[in-house]
Amino acid sequence: GQIEDRSARGQLQASAALATLGYVATIYVLPTFTPFLARSGLTGKDLCKKGTASAEKEIPEGTGVIAGTMFLICVVILQLFYGRDSSDKMVDYLSALLSICFMTFLGFTDDVLDLPWRYKLLLPTVATLPLLCAYDGSTSIVVPRPLDHLLVAVGAGGGGDSVLTLVGRAVSSVFSITVPGKLGGVVLLDLGMAYMVYMGLLAVFCTNAVNIYAGINGLEAGQSFVVACAILAHNMHELRRGRDTGNHTFSAMLLLPFIGTTLGLLRYNWYPARAFVGDTYCYFAGMTFAVVGIHGHFSKTLILMFLPQVTNFLLSVPQLFKVLPCPRHRLPRMDTEKGLLVPSTMPYKSEFPVWQFLRSGPDGEVINLTLINLVLHVVGPLRERSLCTLLLALQAASCGFGFVIRYYFAGLVYGS
Ligand code: UD1
Ligand code: MG
Repeated sequence: GQIEDRSARGQLQASAALATLGYVATIYVLPTFTPFLARSGLTGKDLCKKGTASAEKEIPEGTGVIAGTMFLICVVILQLFYGRDSSDKMVDYLSALLSICFMTFLGFTDDVLDLPWRYKLLLPTVATLPLLCAYDGSTSIVVPRPLDHLLVAVGAGGGGDSVLTLVGRAVSSVFSITVPGKLGGVVLLDLGMAYMVYMGLLAVFCTNAVNIYAGINGLEAGQSFVVACAILAHNMHELRRGRDTGNHTFSAMLLLPFIGTTLGLLRYNWYPARAFVGDTYCYFAGMTFAVVGIHGHFSKTLILMFLPQVTNFLLSVPQLFKVLPCPRHRLPRMDTEKGLLVPSTMPYKSEFPVWQFLRSGPDGEVINLTLINLVLHVVGPLRERSLCTLLLALQAASCGFGFVIRYYFAGLVYGS
């Protein structure tokens, strides 16, 4: 089919044109400004190059601030094509812009100050405030099928005073959750304030998930590029089907310049990296995903596109919460003799069978619990560039898998 809405088509064309400009601008502007980052001491050593001549080089860090700025310029100009007909749309657009801008600023702060990890969690929470305070959309979610009858029954009956119902009622009143009526055959649950909390958590998750799935050249920007393309494909598909056109146009309009500027950055971050993207970029990317997922009302699809990041996060939990020792860097280790990357390890002794599988290195240590190390552990030592390509292929494959779930299985659970 065709994309119905003419104005949507024009908006997407404008966005695509600005995305191209964003790409070209990033390519030209980035090398001009990176020396200034380096001059003020914002540099990092390429830790996966140990034993080679590149190991001593100071590489400019936080260059995501340049890609982020180019993105913001594109999106500010895009206002000329969006939301002129409705002040509601304009409020959504500007609050999205402000949240991404706020996050980029706090990300850069983190690169400069190198904040401890407990504060890192706070930054995205603060940066989603503009989005949450301006949010005027639906706070309802569709209840999955096996649960909907149950919820309607509880809602109608008000049911008894078992401990469970009492707790349920208390939670509902604190967050002003209302149990639903039916709309077109699906049961909607209005989460009220709890939906706001959920949106805040989504932003915290997206930003940090990108940031901790990192450490080899090209991975931060590369994964964001793949995820952004996958979400864009989802938006275009929904637009063709004529569903929720406003939301999907909004999302696609933001993603196109994001893809353009990310590609520009990737040219310098790809192996061998001449620029590190920094936490600035990871937060900027994560917040862009959260914003389009929230405003586009497809946060569950968004999480499906994040399968490797979700896996990496779940693997990391014991180290993040200090149940197991967590060194400052968990990126792979260079085996200088072979010139290949191998998993980095942490000191941990346990007789538990699962740890036997994760044992590595001469002293029988355990690998740092990241997806990158796990892939290396299973596949064997790799060159940095091959590892990055493999991980990006894995990302693309899991996005494809996410689509299968979204389009073939969601109907069974959600009846839509
Ligand atoms: C996160 C990870 C950390 C990982 C780091 C790498 C957690 C809890 N934290 O920390 O394990 O080591 O990212 O980005 O999982 N670097 C490279 N090559 C690259 C990219 C980065 O060597 O391709 C090094 C550089 O020295 C660079 C530094 O990592 O300066 C950036 O680390 P930073 O982003 O500050 O680390 P975190 O995000 O705190
Ligand atoms: Mg980082």
